[in-house]
Amino acid sequence: MKNINPTNTVAWKKLHNHFFDIKNIHIKDLFNLDKNRFTNYSISFNNEILVDFSKNRITKKTLQLLLDLSKECYLSDAIKNMFSGKLINKTENRSVLHIALRNKLNNKIIINNLDIMFSVKKELKKIKNFSNEIIKGYWKGYTGKNISDVVNIGIGGSHLGPYMVTESLKAYKNHLNIHYVSNIDGTNIIEVLKKVNLETTIFLIASKSFSTDETISNANYLKDQFSFKTNSINYFSKHCFALCENTSSALNFGIHKKNIFKFWDWVGGRYSLWSASGLSIALSIGFKNFELLLYGAYIMDQHFLNEKLSTNIPVILALISIWYTNFFHTETEAIFPYDEYMHVFPDYLQQSFMESNGKSIDRNGNLVTWNTSPIIWGQSGTNGQHSFFQLLHQGTNLVPCDFIIPSISHNPINNHHEKLLSNFLAQTQSLAFGNDFYINKEKISNDFIKNKNSFYKFCNGNKPSNSIILKKITPYSLGSLISLYEHKVFVQGIILNIFSFDQWGVELGKSVANNIYHDLFCNNLHKKYDSSTIGLLKIYKKWNNL
Ligand code: F6P
Repeated sequence: MKNINPTNTVAWKKLHNHFFDIKNIHIKDLFNLDKNRFTNYSISFNNEILVDFSKNRITKKTLQLLLDLSKECYLSDAIKNMFSGKLINKTENRSVLHIALRNKLNNKIIINNLDIMFSVKKELKKIKNFSNEIIKGYWKGYTGKNISDVVNIGIGGSHLGPYMVTESLKAYKNHLNIHYVSNIDGTNIIEVLKKVNLETTIFLIASKSFSTDETISNANYLKDQFSFKTNSINYFSKHCFALCENTSSALNFGIHKKNIFKFWDWVGGRYSLWSASGLSIALSIGFKNFELLLYGAYIMDQHFLNEKLSTNIPVILALISIWYTNFFHTETEAIFPYDEYMHVFPDYLQQSFMESNGKSIDRNGNLVTWNTSPIIWGQSGTNGQHSFFQLLHQGTNLVPCDFIIPSISHNPINNHHEKLLSNFLAQTQSLAFGNDFYINKEKISNDFIKNKNSFYKFCNGNKPSNSIILKKITPYSLGSLISLYEHKVFVQGIILNIFSFDQWGVELGKSVANNIYHDLFCNNLHKKYDSSTIGLLKIYKKWNNL
C-alpha cells in the first residue's frame, strides 16, 4: 500500500484552486445549469438502493478532480489489497477481512497458509445450528424451560453493530426478547436483569479481546448473581456463551468450550457484526435472515471491488465527504434515517467513522496537516426537525447531511409514511434551495424595508445533502447499506493516508482509568495527577467515606 500525502498530489492543488470557483455558486444555479442533474448525479444499486448526490456543491469538474485524487493515492490498489488479505492494518500487523465473513464466492482467502473461508463457514454453521436450537425451543434452561430472552453483554463494536441491526430489523424479529448491556454504570445491567427470568434467559458475553473492563465486570456480576440465585454455578453452562477471539480468557472465565463462538484477529471490533459477534442478530431474526444480511453486504462488496471509481457508490460518497471536510472545512456530518427502526444507525456510524478515521498521524508517521474524520452525529427523522434543524437551515455552520428513507414502510398506517416522505423531501429541498426570498433578491430588500421581521425568515439554502432511498428496510438492503458505509470509511482512510483499523486513543483512556481506579483505594493520591483530577477524586472519596 502506497502512503501518499494527499496534499502533495496534483489533484489536491487543483481542488484547492477549484474550491474558489465553486464556493460562491449556489446549488440552485447548478440545477439550473444542468436539467439532468438528478440523472447525472445519482446511482442506483441493484434496484434496492438509490443514492442521489445531486444536492451537493459539486460539478463534473469537482468529481473529476476528486477521482484524480483517488487515483494519485492508489485507491484501486488499496481496495484489492484489502480483499486479498494483505496486512493493511500495519500498526497491529493484521489483515482486514470482514469482507471474508460475507464472502459468497468459492475462492480461497489464505492467511498464514490457511484458507480462512474454511473456518468462516464452520463458525457460520455453528451459529446456524445454535440459533435454530434456541428459536425452536430445543435448548432448555436449567429448569427445563424454553429460552425467551437473550442478553448481549458487550461494548463498542461488540454492542453497537448487533444492537443497531436488531433494532433496524425489528420488523423481522421472532418471539425472543433481545437485550443489550454495555455500560460499566451498574444501572445498565441492574435494569436489564429486572426484565428477565434467569431460568429462560441466555447471556452472550461479546468481547473480541475478552478483556474489556466494562464487559468483564458486567459478566462477573452476572456470574455471581447467577450462582447466588440458582444456588449452583453448574447451571451456568446452559446459560452463558462467549463471542470472542481470545478463547483462552473465555475458558478461564468459566465458559464451556462448546459455548464459545469464535472470530479472528483480522475482524476489527467495529466490523464484527457479521461474525459470531452478531449472534444476537441471528437469534433475533433467525439464521436465514442473518444470511440475507450477509448476502446484501456481499453484493455491495462486489460493487465496491469491481465497479469503476466514477460510478462506485462508497467511493463517490467518500470523495464528496473529503471535499467538504478539507476544502469547505466543515467539521461535522449528520446522518438522518427517516425510519424509526434505524434510530441507532447514527450512533453505530459514529464508532465506524470516528474510531476508524479520528487520527492525526499519517501512514508515514507524520502529523497530518489536513482534516481526517468529520464528527458524525444524527438522529432518526422527523424529531430533529423540531429541534436542531433550525441550525442546519439558518445557523453559521455548514453541515453536510445524509438523509436515508425506505420507500415502503413496515408500518403503513393511515398516511403516516407519505407524510414522513414529504418531510424527508422537504428537508433536502429546503436545505439546498432555501426559501422563496432567494428567488427574488429585490423582494428581500423590499420586504426588509417594509417589514424588518421578514428578513429573519430568510433561508439561503445551499446546504448540501445526499438522499439515500431504499426500496424497503430488509436484511438484504440493510446489509448493503452497512457495507456501503464501511467502504466509505475505508476510502477516506486510504486517501487521507491514515491507519483506519487501530484505535490507540481509546486504549489511552482504558489504561488511565485503570490507574485511577487503583488509586481510589490508596490513602495517598498519586502526585502524577493534575490539581483538578486530585480535587475531584478527593471530593468523591469524601462523599463515599473512602
Ligand atoms: O473501544 C475500543 C474497542 O477496542 C473497540 O474498538 C471495540 O469494539 C471495543 O473496544 C470492545 O472491545 P472488545 O470486543 O475486545 O471487548
